[in-house]
Amino acid sequence: MIIAVDGPAGAGKSTVSKILAQRLGFLYIDTGAMYRALTLKALEDNTDLKDEEKVIELVSSISIDLINNPDGSLKVLLDGRDVSRLIREPRITKSVSDIAKIKGVREKMLILQRGLGLKNNAVLDGRDIGTVVFPNADKKFYIDANFKERVRRRYKELKEMGQEVTEEDIDKDLRNRDTIDSTRKIAPLRKADDAVLIDTTDMTIEEVANKMFEIIDNG
Ligand code: CDP
Repeated sequence: MIIAVDGPAGAGKSTVSKILAQRLGFLYIDTGAMYRALTLKALEDNTDLKDEEKVIELVSSISIDLINNPDGSLKVLLDGRDVSRLIREPRITKSVSDIAKIKGVREKMLILQRGLGLKNNAVLDGRDIGTVVFPNADKKFYIDANFKERVRRRYKELKEMGQEVTEEDIDKDLRNRDTIDSTRKIAPLRKADDAVLIDTTDMTIEEVANKMFEIIDNG
């Protein structure tokens, strides 16, 4: 069984996807973390991010593994190295959408993500899961919240991780990524026609997770 969860940054996608996966005993696949790991590799290798050929070469040369910890958290391995924290740094967030819009990169990620999903019962979260990666997913959700609330949530999350950020930085980043992610030519962020839209602006994480769980339970 495949559950697809898409939506913009800060809407609460990954938090509810993790909860859902844990409750159902499914694998949680954070597809954004895969794009982030590639971005980290490109920055570490001083790859010119505008050189698409080079970035595509890179995606074929690395291994990315997602490990579900028993407590529900996720470990991201890049060539066997734990990069779970590094990939959340602002320098990665700033460049990830430019990497994720490259056609050859998305083609490679699509193969990896389908491979993972076909082997397991899984909850996948991302931007194009219900539209492109698993258009036949058993259940699809589109998780959204108003812009101000998304900025507030991401600010709180990063502060709790110990990052020195301002709400202005977050506002700028979300605006920038929303634009790139939803206007790119390949697999742009959009709600699949058959996805259930949940506006989480006035909902708690528990409420969102319960609602999704109910919808899945009722077939
Ligand atoms: O956690 P956050 O919502 O900030 O973003 P993420 O899920 O970690 O994804 C980071 C970036 O990867 C997004 O802004 C997209 O540019 C890209 N992405 C994508 O293009 N397709 C996906 N399925 C997942 C992420």
